[in-house]
Amino acid sequence: MISKPFLRLLENSQPPETPPIWLMRQAGRYLPEYRATRETAGGFLDLCYNPALAEEVTLQPIRRYGFDASILFADILLIPQALGQKLWFETGEGPRLTPIMDASTLDGSDIMATLAPVIETVGRLSKSLPAETTLIGFAGAPWTVATYMVAGRGTPDQAPARELAEQQPEAFQAIIDVLVEATIEYLHAQVSAGAEVVQLFESWAGSLTGAAFERWCIEPVAKVVQGLRGRGVSVPIIGFPRAADHDMADYVARTACQILGLDTFADRKSLAANLPKEIILQGNLDPLTLVEGGAKLDAAIDEILQDFEGRRFVFNLGHGIVPQTPPEHVAQLVNRIRKN
Ligand code: CP3
Repeated sequence: MISKPFLRLLENSQPPETPPIWLMRQAGRYLPEYRATRETAGGFLDLCYNPALAEEVTLQPIRRYGFDASILFADILLIPQALGQKLWFETGEGPRLTPIMDASTLDGSDIMATLAPVIETVGRLSKSLPAETTLIGFAGAPWTVATYMVAGRGTPDQAPARELAEQQPEAFQAIIDVLVEATIEYLHAQVSAGAEVVQLFESWAGSLTGAAFERWCIEPVAKVVQGLRGRGVSVPIIGFPRAADHDMADYVARTACQILGLDTFADRKSLAANLPKEIILQGNLDPLTLVEGGAKLDAAIDEILQDFEGRRFVFNLGHGIVPQTPPEHVAQLVNRIRKN
């Protein structure tokens, strides 16, 4: 029998009594110990590329809460950096990149030279994590990463990338193609170093509809999954097409993900009732309810447990944990799930 509750979920066709739990962005600024380690590292990127400190911050939430899964500490924007794009983080604002309009300046020939420290972090974690904790690797899905590469920053509506995709589809396709190859290589390396599951973050799926969603979200993710399988990578894959108001059964079937991440606003009841039972769901507590805590948090947790009853699912948030979350509310959540 597999000793890891998260992996066991994939082996059995019946749901366990207690769902496995982890939280997106579980290592982060809401934890004082994260803030302290980050200070030691220098900047956020220095932390991502420092295997000993990245290992430490990945382990911090596991020590505190004993989550069933641990997500590698890194960022989805390390791939553009490894492709030669300049990346930095403006304090209090977020990522900045020198914007690109085509793939001419991208060089995918040796991305692992830049990403090697991240792979070292994975290797360290696979040895230092508790035996029952599953190690999750990740990358951004190509469309979401491309939105930052084209705009040079986060945008409310991803307009620069949508415009480029619309007006110069070949130039945009070339960027996506480079990302697909780089993502396969990077995730393959993560799994070879010990990642047991991988998640593809498609945070900006919601800004595409119809044929654009097919071409820029579904197809690239399907190619990444196929590319990984072609390289003998057999680990479960979590797809997280956030805010995508589309046919989720179709998304799962066409991308061939095993686990579907649901965002905060997903219609849990109808998805739980209508999606094929083989699809494992993940989500979708509102991160702001976790900030609120108390009876509201308990009620929201119970509602999720009830809506997913009879299905295999992974308890998580609908998006990343926010910095103002009181750490004791996370303890309240884990205790309630585990009925401690
Ligand atoms: O989940 C985890 O604990 C693992 C680490 C992780 C981070 N970012 C660390 C991080 C993961 C999986 C990500 C994914 C990521 N990064 C996404 C996809 C998920 C999502 O949130 O939509 C995106 C879009 C990014 C790009 C990114 N990184 C942005 C837009 C920002 C700025 C916003 C913010 O929260 O400050 C980051 C910075 C970032 N990535 C932080 C962390 C812990 C905060 C940096 C800090 O310590 O100051």
